[in-house]
Amino acid sequence: MLQVTQIQKSFFDKEVIHNVGFEIGQKETVSIMGKSGSGKSTLLSIVAGLIRPDSGEILFDGQSLNELDEEELASFRLHNIGFIFQDFKLIPSLTIHDNILLGIYPRNDIADDEKERRIVQLSEEVGLAGRLDESIDTLSGGEKQRVAIARSLAGHPPLVLADEPTGNLDSKTAEEIMALFSQLHDKHQTSFLIVTHDRDIASQTQHTLTMKDGELQS
Ligand SMILES: Nc1ncnc2c1ncn2[C@@H]1O[C@H](COP(=O)(O)OP(=O)(O)O)[C@@H](O)[C@H]1O
Ligand SMILES: [Mg+2]
Repeated sequence: MLQVTQIQKSFFDKEVIHNVGFEIGQKETVSIMGKSGSGKSTLLSIVAGLIRPDSGEILFDGQSLNELDEEELASFRLHNIGFIFQDFKLIPSLTIHDNILLGIYPRNDIADDEKERRIVQLSEEVGLAGRLDESIDTLSGGEKQRVAIARSLAGHPPLVLADEPTGNLDSKTAEEIMALFSQLHDKHQTSFLIVTHDRDIASQTQHTLTMKDGELQS
């Protein structure tokens, strides 16, 4: 599904990603470990088509992201990739409902009633049934991440990218969120690429890649 080949990226004169390649199959779960500054977030942004590599290629179902212009990349992301972040990136003044809707509101290939159906269903799947009208402000960190997970899956993307999704959570809540990923992976058959510092979390994915100074360790 995803093939990453020979990616290289420098910021100014500093090489941040060196010769990185890996693959993720359909429905596969992969973790990336590595110290702070090793290039994990940059690599996720390149996989998502948010940052262009200096060389190398990302193939997504055989389509090279190098061949897409900015507008096509935005559409590619909207249809194919869900995002989950350490700091949730929710809109605090909006309700749970509206934050989940943010994942799909520009999608005109999904009818409005189907969008509503998915929002209700996902709120149930992440354990927030009946709470769609609550505002984000009042939620705990774990609940916020549940909303973000629902948002990431609303478009039924084949790939979800998660950048340290449990980094702001205590260990018990982190475990609950990982259990939720596992349940949702079974249900939605989505591939997950999860960046984490936590060896226990990495061990729950099918494959673990380790980055050091911009390179994958083998
Ligand atoms: N937009 C940018 N401009 C310049 N340097 C950057 C930029 N983004 C990341 N870096 C640098 O690239 C390196 C890798 O960063 P990052 O991918 O965020 O690592 P990680 O997520 O593993 O902590 C760091 O040295 C960071 O300072
Ligand atoms: Mg990072």
